[in-house]
Amino acid sequence: MTTLVIGANGKIGRQFCELAQAVDLPIRAMIRDEGQRPWFEERGIETVIADLEGELDHAFDGCDQAIFTAGSGPHTGPDKTLLIDLHGAIRVTDLAGERGLSRLLMVSAMRAEKPLEAPEKLRPYMAAKHAADAHLRASAVPHLILKPGRLVDEPATQRVATSLAESDGVNSVSRANVAHALLHLAQARDLLDREYVLLDGERPIAEALS
Ligand SMILES: NC(=O)c1ccc[n+]([C@@H]2O[C@H](COP(=O)([O-])OP(=O)(O)OC[C@H]3O[C@@H](n4cnc5c(N)ncnc54)[C@H](OP(=O)(O)O)[C@@H]3O)[C@@H](O)[C@H]2O)c1
Repeated sequence: MTTLVIGANGKIGRQFCELAQAVDLPIRAMIRDEGQRPWFEERGIETVIADLEGELDHAFDGCDQAIFTAGSGPHTGPDKTLLIDLHGAIRVTDLAGERGLSRLLMVSAMRAEKPLEAPEKLRPYMAAKHAADAHLRASAVPHLILKPGRLVDEPATQRVATSLAESDGVNSVSRANVAHALLHLAQARDLLDREYVLLDGERPIAEALS
């Protein structure tokens, strides 16, 4: 019952891995190079080296669930948006299907379905997330899609909202709250084929993401 964490070395990924380790949820952190290993080894977290743009299959060995929280980030061009946010997510969905994973938890983005309404610079990214989500929805892979708003680096409150109406117009969410939300979803094995917007708010995570 191991969960593969794709994007484990990212800001959300590391926080998720620490939370998962603290509750003994078996995880395998997918990282991109040897230099990233010590941070995980110091915490007793298993790692596997793999790349969304390269060798990937082996990372899934022995895993029955995966979390996709990788991303090309704001400092790369549209080429990486295509190869990581779109094609990387599609590869993971297809592999999850081939391997018969029980669930894939996809970190998408709020309003990804409306890329033309995003600020111009973000439109290719939103279009990539939208297309990757559509591929996952159309697949036979049991899944959850988490759609955070703008990510910020604030401490966890473990209180969230699932719509702009509920959050009183707050359009952001802390990465720490996203990590807690992922932990809840990773453990709530009965939740399937659902999508949640995630914003900072007032409701306990388990209640909001039920
Ligand atoms: N920024 C926002 O406001 C926003 C809003 C909604 C959703 N999101 C989504 O939130 C998620 C994570 O956010 P974050 O802040 O944690 O991002 P982050 O810190 O940039 O982490 C992204 C991770 O993806 C990994 N990655 C990049 N290319 C890869 C590849 N080819 N193969 C394997 N891994 C690769 C990176 O690896 P390295 O550590 O090796 O570089 C990094 O660990 C992403 O899915 C992003 O699209 C972001």
